[in-house]
Amino acid sequence: MTTPKKLFIKTYGCQMNVYDSERMAEALGASGYVTTDTPETADMILLNTCHIREKAAEKVYSELGRLKGLKSANPDLKIGVAGCVAQAEGAEILRRQPLVDLVVGPQSYHRLPEMEARARSGEKALDTDFPEEDKFDRLGGRPKASRGPTAFLTVQEGCDKFCAFCVVPYTRGAEVSRPAARILDEARELVDRGVRELTLLGQNVNAYHGAGPDGTWGLARLIRELAKIDGLDRLRYTTSHPNDMEDDLIAAHGDCPELMPYLHLPVQSGSDRILKAMNRKHTAEQYLRLIERIRAARPDILLSGDFIVGFPGETDADFEDTLALVRAVGYGQCYSFKYSPRPGTPAAERDQVDEDVKSDRLARLQALLNAQQEEAQRAMVGRTVGVLFEKPGRMPGQVVGKSDHLQAVHVEAGTDWLGRIAPVEIIAAAPNSLAGRLAT
Ligand code: 5AD
Ligand code: SF4
Repeated sequence: MTTPKKLFIKTYGCQMNVYDSERMAEALGASGYVTTDTPETADMILLNTCHIREKAAEKVYSELGRLKGLKSANPDLKIGVAGCVAQAEGAEILRRQPLVDLVVGPQSYHRLPEMEARARSGEKALDTDFPEEDKFDRLGGRPKASRGPTAFLTVQEGCDKFCAFCVVPYTRGAEVSRPAARILDEARELVDRGVRELTLLGQNVNAYHGAGPDGTWGLARLIRELAKIDGLDRLRYTTSHPNDMEDDLIAAHGDCPELMPYLHLPVQSGSDRILKAMNRKHTAEQYLRLIERIRAARPDILLSGDFIVGFPGETDADFEDTLALVRAVGYGQCYSFKYSPRPGTPAAERDQVDEDVKSDRLARLQALLNAQQEEAQRAMVGRTVGVLFEKPGRMPGQVVGKSDHLQAVHVEAGTDWLGRIAPVEIIAAAPNSLAGRLAT
């Protein structure tokens, strides 16, 4: 019997990349690869890169430089670059870093086995096309064996929104939604393997409009049909654009108990002037009204978002508008970033805000967001919430899971609780986790 070849994948960036890495491992499984956690023993190293923020490409080149030693120790080692930096840089990577054997964009992972064979025969392999065919089909559609009770399922990829700061429409291409029947089949298969919570993924997931058996389905319809699957107890989706929060999706937050009370709905800025410059196509007021409607449907929903400070042209007054919006919403958890110019996007060409000003605004925004997060954590104390136990805790006799609101919860309980959902009374709160006791 031949020993299997070993594959090491280093994943950067978003959940989509985490999911894609699994699909790559699966595709290369067909070429006799098993995954390893130690790059030193690998026959192939893939960097699954993210291009969303500053100096992404430079960071990939320095990471590749660090792999030189491994390649000299093992001349048969093949090195590949995947993900959004691969898509954006393409052949440039092969030119700049000769130790790279293959470069593969997110639309081409199903071609990895043939690319690997080409690389093995000493050729350089490059594929960063956006093919016409459905890559989801070509990957065979079989979800990877799940390692726990939660899983991600990609339902949509790409984005047509063209926010002025963002590379996604260029690197991931136009919006494509998967057919609903396939998603339902995969979900059933995952449930058969013990999955109880699914997070539906897409760069612009609430723009989902996939072919269904009776016409096009939106995300709300898909969620309602998934919720009917026996054993599938929790559904989430990420990430969304405010302009695609349609009435039926808001309604689902109120009347679909499987849809968990957590929503990541980025607004990026609280200033109408900046929102316009960002090409977000809505005002701060419209966002606040939307939040009101979502809260009317599901009063205890925990809200999350993304913010960018120091977007070109942002004044102190614009930034104050952002702080005011944050105060008006009251987030449970948020991500915030300094604007960083992405080559090829419109905002990169505009006059830039000073780095010191950006740092100062980010610190002020994060202080406010952290205070809100701590408040949201504290507010859980005394409440009883559903928790899906996912893994043993760091302390013996402890298990850790996620609350309905996606907060980490530690409980003193045996590992027989793993994979189960139980009511837990929250007894203490820290900024990033909660402690509770079983309330069964
Ligand atoms: N600079 C800073 N933050 C960015 N994001 C996307 N592009 C940029 C950029 N050029 C942030 C946005 C987005 C999140 C995924 O990353 O807030 O919602
Ligand atoms: Fe990027 Fe999201 Fe805007 Fe699309 S909606 S361009 S993914 S920030």
